[in-house]
Amino acid sequence: MTTTLPADPEAVFTYGAPQLKFGTGSSDEIGFDLAQYGVRRVLLVTDPGVAATGAPHRIAEQISRYDIDAQIFDGVHIEPTDDSLNAAIEYARASGPWDAFVAVGGGSSIDTAKAINLLLTNPGELMDYINVPVGKGTAPVNLLKPLIAVPTTTGTGAESTTICVLDVLSLKVKTGISHARLRPTLAVIDPSLTLTQPTGVTAASGMDILCHAVESYTARWYTTNERKRPEQRVPYCGANPISDMWSEKAMRLLASSFRQAVRHGDDAAARSEMALAATFAGMGFGNAGVHIPHANAYPIAGRVRDFHPKDYPGDEPMVPHGMSVSLTAPEAFRFTFEASPERHIRAAELLGPDTDRPNDLSEFLPSVLIDLMRDIDIPNGIGAIGYRTSDIDDLVEGTMKQQRLLTTAPRPVTEQDVAGIFSRSMELW
Ligand SMILES: NC(=O)c1ccc[n+]([C@@H]2O[C@H](COP(=O)([O-])OP(=O)(O)OC[C@H]3O[C@@H](n4cnc5c(N)ncnc54)[C@H](O)[C@@H]3O)[C@@H](O)[C@H]2O)c1
Ligand SMILES: [Zn+2]
Repeated sequence: MTTTLPADPEAVFTYGAPQLKFGTGSSDEIGFDLAQYGVRRVLLVTDPGVAATGAPHRIAEQISRYDIDAQIFDGVHIEPTDDSLNAAIEYARASGPWDAFVAVGGGSSIDTAKAINLLLTNPGELMDYINVPVGKGTAPVNLLKPLIAVPTTTGTGAESTTICVLDVLSLKVKTGISHARLRPTLAVIDPSLTLTQPTGVTAASGMDILCHAVESYTARWYTTNERKRPEQRVPYCGANPISDMWSEKAMRLLASSFRQAVRHGDDAAARSEMALAATFAGMGFGNAGVHIPHANAYPIAGRVRDFHPKDYPGDEPMVPHGMSVSLTAPEAFRFTFEASPERHIRAAELLGPDTDRPNDLSEFLPSVLIDLMRDIDIPNGIGAIGYRTSDIDDLVEGTMKQQRLLTTAPRPVTEQDVAGIFSRSMELW
């Protein structure tokens, strides 16, 4: 393996997380929490599917009991685009001013609220803040307003991260905005809100948790980077002792509850463990970073042609984030195995405590993942969602643009490596 050691190894890692409230009924206390910030007018941001569960209206009503005017915007687009974020920002500008924001939903609603908050408190337009090279990567000059994030999926961990993910339609590329000020002020995680998650959403978003945990656990160790000056530090600093702790815990919880939450969505204990797992994985990857499966997920989702997953809005073709991340994960971890065999074996043991070790230990983690993906009805590889061998060059090009993620991989990743991972991920079993 050709990993060059840094001349001046990093000796510092960082850790950030929002204030957090976890537990059944915690979403009934948001009015009190907002009152502590002295706010009068708040915008509650959600999507039509979550609005239909009634949870956003209940929360808005509860907030209004604290003499706070709470209005609902339920126009979030599932897997936000530059157009959908701009429309949401437009709406919030026209109906503002707002003293605070509350996001009720999955990553799509939470990320939309982050973008609204950023653009209503800072000058310029969306493109100014989007990561280089797609955007200008400008840092916000002003502080943002309080944002309370209330996840209703068990997946992204967006309630604790500093990023907002979006699809730039004209470029057919998924990218993001990343800055410490985007992190929500308070995460309110109420597992009872996740009980209505449809089976397909539970499966895909659960695979997102799993990949967050395993990718941050196998990410390059922070001391293998060159030492940064304080102004160069970014939220993602590589695997470190604190992110390891959260990732390991998340994997244990997934082992005990993931299949059960998919098969028996009304099992409150399994839902609660999945909500904890999503939070823990978010606290891990939100600091360590993710690598190859997430880098591959961007072109897989961005170049979709006509795949319509079960339990998601059917009007547009899409590959849900968690599904797009999982489809190349078994192959990606086969590829990274040699960088840290002990970590890959440990991840397999944590995720599949009852699985026998194969003779070839590099097969252990991929086989645990594939067994799970088959059980919860994830498509059998990128071929099953419509990609053909002739698409691989295009996909590779999209992945190679995600250098911010690829540099977190535990070994160098070339175009040929990525092409191999995609071609072996056409069919997984
Ligand atoms: N900011 C981050 O740190 C981060 C991390 C990973 C992914 N993401 C982004 O998050 C988005 C995906 O978010 P997600 O997987 O949480 O799902 P989502 O917000 O896209 O929602 C998926 C679907 O589930 C429905 N839904 C959600 N909760 C429900 C509930 N409790 N009951 C009934 N229906 C419900 C929604 O209406 C929607 O149709 C993607 O855009 C992805 O790129 C962000
Ligand atoms: Zn993810």
